[in-house]
Amino acid sequence: MNLSPIYKYGKEQTAYCQKIKDYYKNTLKIENPKAFVKTYGCQQNVSDSEKYKGMLVNMGFSLIQNQENADIILFNTCAIRENAENKAFGNIGWIKNFKKMNKDLFIILCGCMTEQNTVIEKIKSKYSFIDLVFGTHSIHKFPKYFYKTILNKKANKIKSGKNYIKETEDIITEDFPAVRNNNLKAFLPIMYGCNNFCSYCIVPYVRGRERSRNSDEIISEFKQLLENGYKDITLLGQNVNSYGKGLEENINFPKLLKKLDDFEGEYTIRFMTSHPKDATNELFDIISESKHISHHIHLPVQCGSNKILKEMNRKYTKDSYLKIIDYAKSKIPDMVFTSDIIVGFPGETYEDFLETIDLLKKVKFASLFTFIYSPREGTPAAKLPDPVTKHEKTSWLIELLKIQEKISENLHKKMIGKTLRVLTESFLSETGELLCRTNSNIIVEVKGEKENIGKFLNVLITNSKKESLKGKII
Ligand code: 5AD
Ligand code: SF4
Repeated sequence: MNLSPIYKYGKEQTAYCQKIKDYYKNTLKIENPKAFVKTYGCQQNVSDSEKYKGMLVNMGFSLIQNQENADIILFNTCAIRENAENKAFGNIGWIKNFKKMNKDLFIILCGCMTEQNTVIEKIKSKYSFIDLVFGTHSIHKFPKYFYKTILNKKANKIKSGKNYIKETEDIITEDFPAVRNNNLKAFLPIMYGCNNFCSYCIVPYVRGRERSRNSDEIISEFKQLLENGYKDITLLGQNVNSYGKGLEENINFPKLLKKLDDFEGEYTIRFMTSHPKDATNELFDIISESKHISHHIHLPVQCGSNKILKEMNRKYTKDSYLKIIDYAKSKIPDMVFTSDIIVGFPGETYEDFLETIDLLKKVKFASLFTFIYSPREGTPAAKLPDPVTKHEKTSWLIELLKIQEKISENLHKKMIGKTLRVLTESFLSETGELLCRTNSNIIVEVKGEKENIGKFLNVLITNSKKESLKGKII
């Protein structure tokens, strides 16, 4: 039993796909319609775009890599920081002219950005040439809404479908068609939404409440991916560590990992993102005993100051975070840690910032995603006084990046001389090098033949760089 409504992609949406296919062929007389999908933001959005692409293929579209020749352009947007929204609006403004050249072009905007009323209002007033706008809550009805938009635009001979959808029901989607970009690595969402309400973050408002997929659905999709030859599978969720809440079955994230670890063959299980408040000893116990789970955890700490962590509503302290890291290191000596850092949260002082630097030196992250705080309308932090200038925040960030660069460099240096098992992901013909990935998520460049793509190899690490390693196949 799952307390959240489950929506299976089935007869209804498939029927709309067929209607769209027929419409393009019989009414618009377009034999081979083309779709371009542009994705902004995180892995969850990449995963959603795989579903949009799957649905577009069901509608008879071929997927293309440039927007110029497209019959439908879909922007799957991100709202996490202001610059993500600016980028999307910049790109949308640019394609307005495409409609002059192709009167049958449909422009569609979906994703996190369009869950915000302020954005819908802006689209209505300044970007009314967009045909269809809907948010993350409506992904499962995309064929239906697109079909209605086509009919509306054509029947009324108007330039834009102007269809603005606003839905709020938090659902779980199953059985969707998906087109994946890669045939080795796959994303597998295990849960949707977030309940944490970190005070700076827009995600709980645009992706709704946390809900977990039933484990049997996840396990059967995982098994299918392995059968299809995928070797590196990343379990996705805003906070995978609270997986299982709201399900009647007796399961949590470590237990799910254990079940997924039990298949035959060589493959790697990754997961992201983990909230430190829910990263338990049980998680690291399971990883240490596993055959396939990556020895890497992305554990966003955001800040090292207890005062700021409290203001951020993160529900852990610098010390409790360091305790988790210590436990993980004691259980899994080669564990690699990465993190997210926000610099310049409202009220953060230079002394608070130095606490973050101290934490970085103690943990020794392999790499970081770093951000300058960006106020998001509707979040509690956006109302706080924020006296530190952007200029000053930027100088703190530069200071942090310099320190982190040294930490990453030293960490990578320590790997020289070790033999590591890697998966070969791609081949660079210019240099004759293979790009491989360690179980702990570090890139290794090795000389080798293209035929090795998709194989697990043992490589001796011979050299290191700031962001990657060099090695040779043994
Ligand atoms: N400003 C800056 N960074 C943010 N993040 C989330 N919200 C904001 C914001 N308002 C960062 C956090 C989070 C990552 C996905 O994005 O570090 O972990
Ligand atoms: Fe945002 Fe916090 Fe949820 Fe992560 S855990 S998505 S930072 S609210």
